[in-house]
Amino acid sequence: MGRRLLLLGPPGAGKGTQAERIARALGIPHISTGVMLRDHVERGTELGNEAQSIMEAGDLVPDDIVVAMVAERIAEEDAACGYVLDGFPRNAPQAEALSAAAGDDAIEVAIYLDVPEDELVARLMGRGRADDTEQAVRNRLSIYQEQTAPLIDRYDTAGALARVDGVGAMDDVFARVTLTLSQ
Ligand code: AP5
Repeated sequence: MGRRLLLLGPPGAGKGTQAERIARALGIPHISTGVMLRDHVERGTELGNEAQSIMEAGDLVPDDIVVAMVAERIAEEDAACGYVLDGFPRNAPQAEALSAAAGDDAIEVAIYLDVPEDELVARLMGRGRADDTEQAVRNRLSIYQEQTAPLIDRYDTAGALARVDGVGAMDDVFARVTLTLSQ
């Protein structure tokens, strides 16, 4: 069993950016529920049609949908040697479902990317994804504070949390992440 990592942080913190680099460096799959859901939307699947308006409003897609998606993905052969989760779990029920599906050691290190809110808004407003409108970003940030941020304490208590300063050039942040993972 290789490394089982989670990228935790608010919208725009750089979870996707750093998860992709970690996955490439370690040769493990990058599992992003946001990417998987956007792929369903693009392909016009039943799941995608159900998720599209929820995502555009910045709300959370129902837990049963994302939990089933992730459980299926981490059971695939390439994930036997580890994975980098990005955007999942996003609330307590999802964290519990992950432990139920993959065991209490499903997350070995939860990397929390710490970025102040002003910087997040500037990054997202400059990107132009369908859920990067001002209203959707505000909603995503508030759902993050209410439902996702409490997971920081959960992984801290479990001794799995690593805080990384997410401000600065992407290469510099990646160097900090790499250093953290080597400790
Ligand atoms: P998701 O795709 O997970 O979006 P998010 O959490 O809002 O995060 P973002 O992708 O906006 O940001 P990120 O932290 O990954 O940063 P990124 O690297 O992209 O989810 C989207 C939606 O899907 C949710 O709102 C929900 O509806 C649904 N969903 C997904 N998972 C779900 C779940 N588990 N349960 C229920 N619903 C779920 O970077 C952001 C920008 O900043 C980019 O332009 C990037 O180039 C730039 N950037 C990155 N790093 C830096 C840096 N160091 N300096 C400057 N710019 C940077």
